[in-house]
Amino acid sequence: APLTGVAAVQEHLQELQSIAEANGGNRAAGTPGYKASLDYIKAQLDGAGFATTIQEFNAIGGTTYNLLAETPGGDANSVVMFGAHLDSVSRGPGINDNGTGSAAILQAALDYAGSGATPKNKLRFAFWGAEEQGLVGSQHYVDSLPQAEQEKIAAYLNFDMVGSPNAGYFTYDGDDSDGEGAGPGPQGSAEIEKLLNDALAQAGAETEGTDFDGRSDYGPFIAVGIPAGGTFTGAEQRKSTEQAQKWGGQAGQAFDPCYHQSCDTVDNVDTQALDRNLQAINAAVTAYAEQFPQQ
Ligand code: PHE
Ligand code: ZN
Ligand code: ZN
Repeated sequence: APLTGVAAVQEHLQELQSIAEANGGNRAAGTPGYKASLDYIKAQLDGAGFATTIQEFNAIGGTTYNLLAETPGGDANSVVMFGAHLDSVSRGPGINDNGTGSAAILQAALDYAGSGATPKNKLRFAFWGAEEQGLVGSQHYVDSLPQAEQEKIAAYLNFDMVGSPNAGYFTYDGDDSDGEGAGPGPQGSAEIEKLLNDALAQAGAETEGTDFDGRSDYGPFIAVGIPAGGTFTGAEQRKSTEQAQKWGGQAGQAFDPCYHQSCDTVDNVDTQALDRNLQAINAAVTAYAEQFPQQ
C-alpha cells in the first residue's frame, strides 16, 4: 500500500531533493528542476483523479508554470483553495522553503481523494511558480481570473515553510488581534485562523499570530478581498526565550538557519512540526470540503 500521512510527505521531500540534485542543486522557477518538480506533483494528482491544469507564464530565467488541481466533485461556484509555492531559490534545493508546504498540501489532497468522499465545495490545490521572484505565479493566477471567478473563491489557505528545524507555530492573523502590523485580512479570515489554531492545539502546539505582511502567496488573494489564512513555522527571524519555553528548540537562533541556503535539504526539516502542520491542513480540508465559513 502507498504511504500516507507524514511518512508520505517525507517521501515527496526526498523526491524533490533528488530532483534538485539531478538539476544543478536547485528547483528555481524557469529551470529544469522546477519543471521536474511540477511533473512529479502533477503525476501524483492525476493518478488520484484530480483535474489538473498547467498555467504558463514568464518569469526571470524564462517560461515557468503554476499547477492547479481540483476535485472533480463539489460546487464550482464555491471553491476553497489550498496553495504553496513549489519553486526554490537558486542557492539550494528549497526543501523546507517550500518543499514542505507543497508536499503537505499534495498529501492532504491525496489522502482526501483516498477517503472516497465527494466534497460539497470544490477543493482546488495550487502549486505556484516564481514566488521567490516576488509572488509572480500567484499574482499571475489571480490576475488571470475574471472577477466572477475570483468571487467564487470562498477562501485561500497558504502554506509556505511548515517544517522549520527550530519551529514556531504561527497562523496568519485574520482579525489583527494584536492591533499591530498589517491589519486584518478580508472578512472571514478570522474564522480560518481559528480553525487552524484549534487544529494545531489538537496536534499539540499552541499558536501565535503572524501578520499578513505580504511575504507569501496569500498577498494577491487578500488584495482582491478573498478570505485567507494559513500556517508558517518561521524563516530567518530568531526564536525568543518565551517562544523556546513554549515550543522547545533554541532561543536566539533562527527558526530556519538554512533559510534560502544550500543547506535547506531534507535534513533541514523538523518532522514533528511537519506532522502537526499536516494534521492542521487535513483538518482544514475536511472541514472546508463541507462548508465555509465554519459554523
Ligand atoms: N515567502 C518567504 C520565502 O519564500 C518566506 C516567508 C513565508 C516569510 C511566510 C514570511 C512568511 O522566502
Ligand atoms: Zn523563500
Ligand atoms: Zn517560501
